[in-house]
Amino acid sequence: MTFARIVSTGMSLPENIVTNDDIAKKVETSDEWIYGRTGIHERRVSSEGQATSNFAAAASKQALEKAGMDPMDLQCLIVATITPDLPFPASACLAQESLGAKNAAAFDISAACSGYVYALSIADAYIRGGLYENVMVVGAETLTKVINWEDRGSCILFGDGAGATLVTASDKPGLGYTELGADGAYADLIHVPGGGSKVPTTHETVDQGLQYAVVKGRDVYKLAVTLAEKVITRALEKNDLSVDDIALLVPHQANQRITDAVQERLGFSEDRVASNIEFYGNTSAASVPICLHEAASGGRIKSGDKVLLVAFGAGFTWGTMLIDW
Ligand code: UT7
Repeated sequence: MTFARIVSTGMSLPENIVTNDDIAKKVETSDEWIYGRTGIHERRVSSEGQATSNFAAAASKQALEKAGMDPMDLQCLIVATITPDLPFPASACLAQESLGAKNAAAFDISAACSGYVYALSIADAYIRGGLYENVMVVGAETLTKVINWEDRGSCILFGDGAGATLVTASDKPGLGYTELGADGAYADLIHVPGGGSKVPTTHETVDQGLQYAVVKGRDVYKLAVTLAEKVITRALEKNDLSVDDIALLVPHQANQRITDAVQERLGFSEDRVASNIEFYGNTSAASVPICLHEAASGGRIKSGDKVLLVAFGAGFTWGTMLIDW
């Protein structure tokens, strides 16, 4: 029987660090408020000319090098992103070119902060179905390019970067139980009103700021806590596991208070829950693979450990995946 396993990871971040104090110089806020409400101290912000595919390619290169794999052996490159370099072609194609992965099929998927879990499930299906043996799955974002830096309710939240995982065919189990979900009734909770086919870009839409993300933070917060608790519980029940069987829970990094609430409600000890929001903010589809890379390279997860991913975001979308590391 063929399974899909993560064999290596990589990550890439912009060098530019923007602290809460830096933001407080531009909008009415403070480090105390931002850190207290979100757990974020600083985030990485891409510079002019830096785009999503740059980070996707750099993170993938790192994962390929770690695995000792030639880019030409990559058969598929999937980039989960809601901030592509261009409306089209896909950032995956631009990353593929920069990597020299000429034999890889390449495409983006759009499921916001859940995008990486969605993309991982595609890689799992391709590999178990026998279509490919080597697939790179990337979460990459430059959210700071689509937020309104004058809106203190949203500009404090997001950061840029990418995380990549190389997934290959194996006779040992790896990627396992998966739940994906969506509820379009909540589409307006986090969205960009302009620039698509509904409201194409014009001078007027730009004057109105419709190119910027609208975030109904409080509503997202409430929905995220309830949903994350529900889907994690379901994943544990369906696999006859308890929280103690999970070596590391890797939640999407949306707000430290969301993570803390879920952790406390379900009874996970703090050392079994990944968190790096303090340094990177919410990097959307990149947050789970960046956490995974840091956990794997820091020795926090070892071969044989059970790792549970949970992500949620615009759409509204969500996804959980149980991994035998
Ligand atoms: O990954 C999915 C995307 N992530 C999200 O959508 C984030 C989820 N939501 C959150 O993280 C939190 O809801 C926020 C951090 C965005 C906001 O925290 P909150 O505790 O829900 O605050 P709030 O929106 O209810 O606002 C409370 C007060 C308001 O003032 P009034 O109306 O009570 O006078 C806001 O105007 O805090 C004010 N406020 C701020 N004050 C200082 C909002 N943003 C700021 C700010 N600095 N940056």
